[in-house]
Amino acid sequence: MKTKSRLFLLLALLFSALNLLAQTSGFQKLDEWVEVWKTGRQTYFGYPANQQSEMSDFYKWYLSAGMEVVNLNNAGDPMTDKPWRMSSHAFERDVIEYFAPLYGFTRDNVWGIVTHSGTDGNNHGIYFGANYLKNKTGMAPVLYVSDEAHYSNMRLAHLQNLEMRLIKSDAMGRMIPQELEKALDTSRPVLIIYAMGSTFKGAIDDMPTLNAVLDRHPEIPAIYRHVDAALFGGYLPFTEHRMMVSHEAMRFESIAISGHKFFGIDSPSGLFLCTRDVYENQADFNVTYLNSNMRMINCSRDAVQPLKFWWIIQKVGTEGWTEQAANIMRCTAYLKQQLDSIGWPAWVNPYSNTVFFRRPSDDIIAKYTLALGHDDKFGGNLAHVVVMQHVTKEKINGFISDLMDELEASESESD
Ligand SMILES: Cc1ncc(COP(=O)(O)O)c(C=O)c1O
Repeated sequence: MKTKSRLFLLLALLFSALNLLAQTSGFQKLDEWVEVWKTGRQTYFGYPANQQSEMSDFYKWYLSAGMEVVNLNNAGDPMTDKPWRMSSHAFERDVIEYFAPLYGFTRDNVWGIVTHSGTDGNNHGIYFGANYLKNKTGMAPVLYVSDEAHYSNMRLAHLQNLEMRLIKSDAMGRMIPQELEKALDTSRPVLIIYAMGSTFKGAIDDMPTLNAVLDRHPEIPAIYRHVDAALFGGYLPFTEHRMMVSHEAMRFESIAISGHKFFGIDSPSGLFLCTRDVYENQADFNVTYLNSNMRMINCSRDAVQPLKFWWIIQKVGTEGWTEQAANIMRCTAYLKQQLDSIGWPAWVNPYSNTVFFRRPSDDIIAKYTLALGHDDKFGGNLAHVVVMQHVTKEKINGFISDLMDELEASESESD
């Protein structure tokens, strides 16, 4: 063999050895789980996680810059003019200022943080709402939320020791305005949570109609509206329906969105935004060793998530998210149409990327990690698919073909 080709062979061997090393951790249990996770993400249909994370360049930069030895912490307020040195506050503030106009806030009338999750955002919404109302009226509010809203809201009302009234929703999952009106205690402040995407059916509470119910009662001492937009708050600002997530148009005081759902951050994170009036009507906690009056619930806060958010805004940004949102809507319509074409009972709410349908076999549920529900109004056992970025037309075709096999098998059994 010539020296040149020997050298080439040696380099190729070295490269594949390095590659092999890079792919294994040296811990058998971990390596086995990596396989489970990588296979699982391909058909992860039932939950609202974007499995097309675009963070690989971020991790390359993080290591190449030597950031893995730096311990940052975002304790403190990112919206002050004196960002703390060992934090990523400056980037967190950029993130809030990028998103503020997308949710109908002006830059001079917004306060916000990057949260640890949608639940953390709801926790702030409920806590800020209760404090705001107490500060304005001297009274504790009653919290109203639909019975199909995400369970985090009920859990948090319990945690915060608030009186809660669960309002019935209609068959498709939207809070019934007449039921809200019946339940209202107009002598006490109202803290209302609007579900922007009920958990199973993907319904959006009709905010203009619910606001009109509240407007009919000027005797209510004060009102605070928080929007739980964990999933839909990701894509709606990038569609023609952006007014539905606008503080200005829908008159809400605060909103919570998850970062790991539509935006594609690869681990739990989120956004919380509210008006300055809300921020200014919070309980004072002047903490001398931090940069400011501490309004947020947590002391230590993750400093890497805001960096990831900031990064992904630069990498994907408005143009990329607009394309992704349109694609998600197209694929949702395609899935519904394909289910209809094979006669599989299925339903989808307007503006929703969540299609719910008659529950298939356990094998299909396991293969596609489907989320389960039950509603007698829709024939009993149900399952749903949340059409995220990785749920492509090709994968939908595979799913439909699995359902058709199941239909054929059950037809031949009944023959
Ligand atoms: C409407 C809604 N609210 C809240 C949450 C909770 O968000 P997170 O999982 O980010 O805490 C979810 C999660 O699926 C959701 O769909």
